[in-house]
Amino acid sequence: MRFGNLGKKLFCGAATLALASAVSAQNVVKLGMVGEFSGPFAQYGQQILGGMKAYMKLHGDTVAGKKIEIVQKDTGGPAPDVAKRLAQELVTRDNVDILVGFGLTPNALAVAPVATEAKKAMVIMNAATSIITTRSPYIVRVSMTLPQITQPMAVWAAKNGIKKVYTVVADYGPGLDSEKAFSEAFKAAGGEIVGSIHTPLQNPDFAPFVQRVKDAKPEAVFLFLPAGEQGIAFMKGYAERGLAQAGIKLIATGDITDDGVLEAMGEPTLGLITSFHYSAAHNSPENAAFKKAYAEVNGDKLRPNFMAAGGYDGMAAIYEALKKTNGSTDGDKLVAAMKGMKLVSPRGPIMIDPETRDVVQTVYIRKVEKTGGGLYNVEFDKFPDQKDPGK
Ligand code: PHB
Repeated sequence: MRFGNLGKKLFCGAATLALASAVSAQNVVKLGMVGEFSGPFAQYGQQILGGMKAYMKLHGDTVAGKKIEIVQKDTGGPAPDVAKRLAQELVTRDNVDILVGFGLTPNALAVAPVATEAKKAMVIMNAATSIITTRSPYIVRVSMTLPQITQPMAVWAAKNGIKKVYTVVADYGPGLDSEKAFSEAFKAAGGEIVGSIHTPLQNPDFAPFVQRVKDAKPEAVFLFLPAGEQGIAFMKGYAERGLAQAGIKLIATGDITDDGVLEAMGEPTLGLITSFHYSAAHNSPENAAFKKAYAEVNGDKLRPNFMAAGGYDGMAAIYEALKKTNGSTDGDKLVAAMKGMKLVSPRGPIMIDPETRDVVQTVYIRKVEKTGGGLYNVEFDKFPDQKDPGK
């Protein structure tokens, strides 16, 4: 009899626990983050997650009655097969509600069919090849596209008297997108492309490429490389081979003067002109609050860059969408809630194009200057309301 009672009590206890965890599972929204946390692109995951955490620091970890939890997975670099497997695990094993992250294009492309099959919203916080959003109706991108940020650079260069350009781009989606966007816009404005080079995505040695550019004697070189270590390596070659002294200007997308590595690249970057959507030097109360929260959560050592801003804005989009769906994580409802959404980002105003699910934003022209105790991309011209011209 006594055993019977104990058994009953144990059973009731277990049932209560099971019920409690079912209720708490209902009150949690799980974000499955696929990111690059190790290898040469490790800063991508770190920056994106840092931006996400900065948002949560400012806005709390609960929205529409749901607690937000992040489950992280590391692709270890550009590894589409790994990214796909990790996303499948996140959906089937970890029961995540939304897929987020994605620094690199190949990883985002590989996960697109997983989002479609699972009907889960997938928020791209960096990966910037134009076609990505066409690969699943569940994808929303808050970051940028390469054609979007490149085209203004071509227009600006032509307007400022540059006529002959040599293009150097990384040999994968974003690089090819930026080469096409630059060449088309530059030629349309009367410019001439005198040569082009594609550099490998992994372990490039820039010295021979830089020499080839120098020998062709263009007025400027247009450059796209994925943010981080490659920019440091290219700038070293550019300085060592004396391109600036030979009168060859460098113009680029802002990936090269990424705020996370600008100090490490040092003085050779002074005066460098780039086009981009985010600068840590952007002067706004939203950016000041973002940088303060980022430093509090991640420590002062790493300056937030555009990927951190992408992580922050991705969280903003998710929080605002969850408010609209009253906490429902249904993929169709979340994507519908994000279409046409307007946010005031640390970079300035942004909007999710309801037709393409891609971000519409201001693209700034910036110059590297020594200011505020360090090297910064100082914005001095802008192209407002830029859609992705790549679609
Ligand atoms: C990308 O792989 O889409 C990518 C990576 C780094 C960048 C820009 C785009 O700086």
